[in-house]
Amino acid sequence: MPVRSLRTEAKPNTRNLKYGGYYQRDVPAPDPELTDTDPATPMGELMRRFWQPVCLSEQLTDLPHPIRIMGEDLVAFRDKSGRVGVLHRHCSHRGTSLEFGLLTERGIRCCYHGWLFDIDGTILETPGEPAGSRIEDRLCHGAYPALEKHGLVFAYMGPPEHKPDFPHYESIDAPGNKVYPLSNWFGCNWLQVAENTADPAHTSIFHNGVGSAWLQEGKPTGKGTALPAAWGAEMPVMEYRITEGGRSMVYIVSRRIGDRIWVRNNHFILPNYIEIGRLFEDATAEKYFGRVAFVRWVVPHDNQSSTIFGWRYFHKDIDPKGLGEPDKLGIEGQDFLDGQVGSNRSDEERRRYPGDWDVIMGQRTIAVHAKENPASTDVGVAMWRKLCRDAVRGRTRRALPKPANGAGEEPLLSYCQDTIFRIPAPADVERDQELIREMGRRVTDIVLDGDRFARKERSREIKSGLKALEKDLRKAYA
Ligand code: FES
Ligand SMILES: [Fe+2]
Repeated sequence: MPVRSLRTEAKPNTRNLKYGGYYQRDVPAPDPELTDTDPATPMGELMRRFWQPVCLSEQLTDLPHPIRIMGEDLVAFRDKSGRVGVLHRHCSHRGTSLEFGLLTERGIRCCYHGWLFDIDGTILETPGEPAGSRIEDRLCHGAYPALEKHGLVFAYMGPPEHKPDFPHYESIDAPGNKVYPLSNWFGCNWLQVAENTADPAHTSIFHNGVGSAWLQEGKPTGKGTALPAAWGAEMPVMEYRITEGGRSMVYIVSRRIGDRIWVRNNHFILPNYIEIGRLFEDATAEKYFGRVAFVRWVVPHDNQSSTIFGWRYFHKDIDPKGLGEPDKLGIEGQDFLDGQVGSNRSDEERRRYPGDWDVIMGQRTIAVHAKENPASTDVGVAMWRKLCRDAVRGRTRRALPKPANGAGEEPLLSYCQDTIFRIPAPADVERDQELIREMGRRVTDIVLDGDRFARKERSREIKSGLKALEKDLRKAYA
């Protein structure tokens, strides 16, 4: 009898069968509506409407730099007059890779037969052709607009007629802010990398010893830094809110630390951009509308690999000298925190001291949503997927940036913030939980309401609203 015919089909109610692995072994397809970003896919087309980081400025040396973004093979380079180009990697003549090309004063010359391409795809020379050849009049090489900002190279890979201005990231305006670029490669799909941040429950468990033998044993790896004790092993109060009509969401993570309560909002903006508060927040002092420390884009190379490109901010509120110094940033530069980078650890080390990099990669190369069993702590991940799904289905009015209209950079307001009040805990534990929850909600209300103020006044107004709230809550819960 052929073995195939011995197969026993899954029966109803086998999900809770002890030793029932036989019935659970099938792995269905992933969720391509969200995970597939190749050309002409729904998510791929959504991402292409935004300026996306594609490499670091420091990677543009005297050699062309081959890159792969959303399933497209490209070459990035800086020509000898300093202009940045992002072109289709394979030469328009007979397809060799422009990574072997020569950088010139104006563009890049293919090494094979010498065709010269400008950064906008114009064919400037075809040296093997007879005088009078008109190839360059009827052909342009594939090119994308590119620009550099604070050490990252961005490209716009969408339809030219929809190209938006590069947005103005408001979070960058913190007084005295210094901005440093970084990247961090993952051998897995972009979505699960982005979702990790929308899952604050793992911070209290995974990063605080429940899931990590090495933390229980008190053995730091010495490669980075563990999160401060304030992040606590106790589960915070976690809530989430859809913002800007479904274009973004915030999480509201509120926790008690001694006689203080700390409320953090991280801001998630479609399709792949996240703003994160101070990584090494220790909540030892009051704080009102503390600002962003880390912004990042999770950019797919293809469906099986992705890179976090980001800026770390350093200013007086955000680790001006302390942990996570700028010299640890750059390529593979998330190493300031244990277990964020995979390339510098052996397999054994990864299994002994797993970090975010390992658990994200561990969700399969492309996480299979149909195999998951979402629980109460997964509300943020579910909300993020819903936002993405609504956007690719055209249900979100403000999902796409406006095409450039001469009005200049559109400001991108940040809701990411940390607020810490000093409010001693009421004797009753349940009442304290109520207080923590109420503070989280009302702090978030004040932050979101800040949109109605002029940009110059927003920060001041939010801070004064928060200080008034602190007094209110102290009185109400005395
Ligand atoms: S293949 Fe590039 S010039 Fe011929
Ligand atoms: Fe983490």
